[in-house]
Amino acid sequence: MGRPTILAVINQKGGVGKTTTVINLAASLSILGQNNLVIDLDPQGNATTGLGKSNSEEEKNIYNILIKKIDIKQVIQKTDIENLDLIGSHVNLSGLEVETANDSNRAFVLKDILKAEKKGVLEKYDNIFIDCPPSLSLLTIMALVASDELLVPLQTEFFALEGITQLVKTIDRIKENLNPELKLRGILLTMFDKRNKLSSEVDREARNYFKEKVYETVIQRNVRLSEAPSHGLPCVIYDKNCVGSKSYFKLAEEFIKNNQIESAA
Ligand SMILES: Nc1ncnc2c1ncn2[C@@H]1O[C@H](COP(=O)(O)OP(=O)(O)O)[C@@H](O)[C@H]1O
Ligand SMILES: [Mg+2]
Repeated sequence: MGRPTILAVINQKGGVGKTTTVINLAASLSILGQNNLVIDLDPQGNATTGLGKSNSEEEKNIYNILIKKIDIKQVIQKTDIENLDLIGSHVNLSGLEVETANDSNRAFVLKDILKAEKKGVLEKYDNIFIDCPPSLSLLTIMALVASDELLVPLQTEFFALEGITQLVKTIDRIKENLNPELKLRGILLTMFDKRNKLSSEVDREARNYFKEKVYETVIQRNVRLSEAPSHGLPCVIYDKNCVGSKSYFKLAEEFIKNNQIESAA
C-alpha cells in the first residue's frame, strides 16, 4: 500500500476512547521510532489539547485546510514528542457541514488534499491518524473516504455492540460507493475492568462476532489515562509505567507486528 497509512479512529458513540487511543497509540508508535501525524477532525479538539496544543489557534487548523484557505504544509505543528506531528482542530469545524451544503464533492475534500501530498509533505510519515467526532456526520464521512484503514474502539460496557451494527452498515455503504479499498484494520476493546463481569462478556461477544479483527491487546480502565490530557501530554509520556500506558505500548507492538505480517503476505 505504501507510506503513509491513513487510519481513521472511528465510532459514532462519544466517550468510547477514540481520542485517548489516537493520542496514546500515535505517541507509543513515535516512541518506538515510527513517524506519525495526528489529524484532529473533531470540533471539540480534544486530541489537539491532549497533545499540548491550542484548539483556538486561528491559522494552523484543519478547518482552514478544508476550506482551502491555507496549504497543508503550513498547518502541521510539531508536538513536544519526537516523531509526532499534529494538524489541530478548531471549533469552526462544526460549521463546515452547513457551509458546504451546496458542494456535491465535499465528501472528497480531505481525501484529495491528503492524496495530493502523499508523495510530498506527508511522505515521511508511517501513519496518519484521524481522530473522528462522535457522529456519522460529514466530517466522519470525509475521514472514511480519505482513509486506508479503520480502527474502531469499543468500550467494554453494556450496549457497546449495539451501535456497531449501524457503523458496519455505514462502512459497507462507503466501501460500495465512495472508497472500495477501505479496510477494517481492527476493533479495540477499551476501558476494560476485570472486576466488572460485563467487561468480560463484551470481550467474549465481540471476539465471537468479529473474530480475529479484535486486537488481542485490551486497554484497561486506568485513571491515569484520563488525567494525562489536562497536562497536555499523552499518558505514555506522562506516566509511562501505569497500567493504561502499558496497554497502549502493547497495542503499538501488536499494531507493528500486524503490519509486518501484512507486508510479508
Ligand atoms: N482506558 C481508560 N481508562 C480510564 N479512562 C479512560 C480510558 N480511555 C478513555 N478514558 C477517559 O474517558 C473519557 C472519554 O474518552 P475519549 O478518548 O475522549 O473518548 P472519545 O474520543 O471516543 O469521545 C475521557 O475522559 C478519557 O480520558
Ligand atoms: Mg474524542
